Amino acid sequence: MEPILKLDNVCKRFGGLVATDHVSFSVPAGDITGLIGPNGAGKSTLMNLISGIYDVDEGHIYFEGEDVTKMPAYQRSRKGIGRTFQTPRFLYRSNILDNLLLGMDLGEDINYFKSFMGAKKGNLKERLDELIPVAGFDIDWNSDINAIPYGQRKLLEIVRSMLAMPKIMLVDEPAAGLNNREIENAMALLELAAKKYNIGVLLIEHSMDMIMNTCSNIVVINFGKKICEGGPETVASDPQVIEAYLGKDLDA
Ligand SMILES: Nc1ncnc2c1ncn2[C@@H]1O[C@H](COP(=O)(O)OP(=O)(O)OP(=O)(O)O)[C@@H](O)[C@H]1O
Ligand SMILES: [Mg+2]
Repeated sequence: MEPILKLDNVCKRFGGLVATDHVSFSVPAGDITGLIGPNGAGKSTLMNLISGIYDVDEGHIYFEGEDVTKMPAYQRSRKGIGRTFQTPRFLYRSNILDNLLLGMDLGEDINYFKSFMGAKKGNLKERLDELIPVAGFDIDWNSDINAIPYGQRKLLEIVRSMLAMPKIMLVDEPAAGLNNREIENAMALLELAAKKYNIGVLLIEHSMDMIMNTCSNIVVINFGKKICEGGPETVASDPQVIEAYLGKDLDA
C-alpha cells in the first residue's frame, strides 16, 4: 500500500545552518510513527516543512501520492494534514465547544466551512462523546477555555485536531508539561486516532518510554540527518543512536 505521507530527500537551510539534510521517510495510515533526536536536531523543522509553514529548499513531499511540496499550508490542512501546536492555541474568552469547532482549521473559505459544518455537525457530538472520556476528564462545555488546567487544554488540542478527521496528524511533544495520568490519556487519544480512525500519526516526543511503547517505526534525526529508522529494538541497539541520543540521556 502507498504510504499516506512520503518525504524524499528533503532539505532545509537557515542561512548557513542545515536544519534538514536529505531526509527521506514515510508515514503509513493507521499507525504511530516516532520522530526522535536530541534538542535542535531538526524535528520540529520537519513538521513545519510537512505542514507547509516552511518552504522546502530541495527534495519533495508527497501526500497520498500527490506532490504537495509547493502547496500552501491552508490547502495541505484541507487535504487532511492536521497538526497540534507545542503550546496550546485557543481563543481566549470563548467557550470550550466553540474552541473545539475551530479545530476544523478550514481556512477562510466560508462556503466551504458552511457545507463542511452541515455535513459534519451530525456526527460531531457523537465523536466528542467518544473522545472526551478517552481524554479522561469531565467538561462543562460552556466554561471559559482558560478556566481549565494546562494539561487538559493540551489534551483538548489533540481532541480538536482529531475532530477535523485529518488523514495525518503531526503531534509535537504532546507530553511536555503533563502529569503521568494526562500522558496516558494523551497516548490513548493518539492510539484511538491511529487504530480506530486510521489516521497516520507522526509523533515527536522526548520521552523514550512513550516512543518505545507506542511506535512500531521510529525515525531518528541528528544534526538534520536521518541516522536510523526501524522498530524499537533496532533503534535502541543502533550505535549511532546510542551515541547521539540514548547516550546523552543515560549520562544526564
Ligand atoms: N525559523 C528558524 N530560523 C532559523 N533557525 C531555525 C528556525 N527554526 C529552527 N531553526 C534551527 O534549526 C535547528 C533545528 O531546530 P528544530 O526546532 O527543528 O529542532 P528540534 O529537533 O525540534 O529541537 P527540540 O527538541 O529542542 O524541540 C536548530 O538549530 C534551530 O535553531
Ligand atoms: Mg522541537
